[in-house]
Parts: sequence; C-alpha cells; structure tokens
Amino acid sequence: AVLAGHPLDLTGRHIVVSAGGTREALDPVRFLGNRSSGLQGYALARAAVARGAKVTLVSANVALDDPAGASVVRVESARDMREAVLGLYGVADAIVMAAAVADFRPSARSDSKIKKTSGEPDPIFLTKNPDILAELGARRRAEAHEGFGPVIVGFAAETHDILANGKAKLERKGCDLLVVNEVGENLAFGTPDNAAVILSSDGTSTEVHRGPKEALAHVVLDLVGARLV
Ligand code: CTP
Ligand code: CA
Repeated sequence: AVLAGHPLDLTGRHIVVSAGGTREALDPVRFLGNRSSGLQGYALARAAVARGAKVTLVSANVALDDPAGASVVRVESARDMREAVLGLYGVADAIVMAAAVADFRPSARSDSKIKKTSGEPDPIFLTKNPDILAELGARRRAEAHEGFGPVIVGFAAETHDILANGKAKLERKGCDLLVVNEVGENLAFGTPDNAAVILSSDGTSTEVHRGPKEALAHVVLDLVGARLV
C-alpha cells in the first residue's frame, strides 16, 4: 500500500462523475431499472478527490455512502441525469459517464398505482431516452478547437468482439476515452473487481487487468489528466 497516497495532480480541476443506474417510472411505486451498483463511479469519485480534484457525483439510485469531499447530486431517471450532467458541462474539466443509463423508458407513466384487474395486463410500450454521452460528445466536437471543452469519458460493457464493438461505440458517441468492461465471469456489476480496455480517440488502447475498481479508476484519471492542458 502506498501510505503517502496519490499525487495531487488534479488540483484545481472539476471532475463530474455519473454513477449508479437510472430508474424509469411506470407508476408512483414501480420502475424499470438495472443492476448497476454504482461501485465503479463511486471509486472514480473517491480517486479524483484523493488526487485533489473538486468532484461532483451525479448519483442514480445507489446504496452507498457519499464519498467524503465530493458533492453529490441525486437523480432518478435518465432525463433527470441528462439535466444534471448537461448543466455541469460548462464548469467541468472532465465528465465521466460511469452510470448505467436506461436506453428506454415506459412511454406512459400512470399517476396512480396500476391496479391488477381481472383480465390480462396491458403491454408496456417504450420510448427512447436521450443519449447523454452522445450529446456530450457532439457538443464537444462542435466546439472543436483542440483542448477546448471537458474531456468526455464513456463506459461500455461488451460480451464479445470487445475491441471492434468498443471502437465503433467510441466513434458513435464522439467521446475522448471509452472504458470497455469485459463482462461475464463474475466481473463488473456488484463486484469489487473490474477488468477493462480503455480506448482513446487518438487510436491508442490501455489494458487494465482484473483488479479493484479503485485501480481502474486511477488509470482512467491518469488518461484524463494527460489530456488536460
Ligand atoms: N449512456 C448515456 N445515455 C444513454 C445510454 C448510455 O449517456 N441513454 C452512456 C453510458 O453512461 C455509458 C455509455 O453511454 O457511458 C455507453 O453505454 P452503452 O449502454 O454501452 O451504449 P449504448 O449506446 O446504449 O449501446 P448498447 O446498445 O450496447 O446498449
Ligand atoms: Ca445502453
């Protein structure tokens, strides 16, 4: 263990991290959700605080203690998260989208609890949610001059053709870095460990072998820091 801690290389920087999984309401008591624990995003927030950054954590539905030294904005749905994250675009040096954002939401939200009736239940229709990362990437690209705008980092979980799928997603989303998790074999969701390949828009890639999410967090921050001028 490095008792001296980490270098304060992110002092004066504002890092925004999204974490957890969004919930999309069906009625006042029910939602569509996902299994994201928030552990990777919280590890990123703690690591960034440890390196001296001002950290805003946009947190969706996690059962974790607030990281000391970070300010936490709680959100529920993808649309809430979009509002919070885009609202921080102008003040952020980097935005790391570690959250699992629901791709779809129920097309209608009932104002009252949906009741069990005698017949068959109604089907649930879905509507596409905004793609927050793609929006961040597009905005960044539009303000194209080199070194301008926050560093945009996405996450992706892929089960197969990791590099090919990851590269396509990096381009589609227009982000600077894409952390591609290798899912399966007890990795990722809810576990303390992670393994990933971090793809960069400059064509390089960095492999991070299986280890604590905190270790992956620091490698992500190394790559973010290298892009900050
Ligand atoms: N993301 C987002 N808004 C969405 C969906 C995803 O900002 N509506 C972000 C996630 O936070 C993550 C990245 O996009 O950083 C990749 O998410 P992923 O689900 O892997 O990508 P999708 O484009 O939704 O593709 P897929 O069809 O594989 O789900
Ligand atoms: Ca998705």
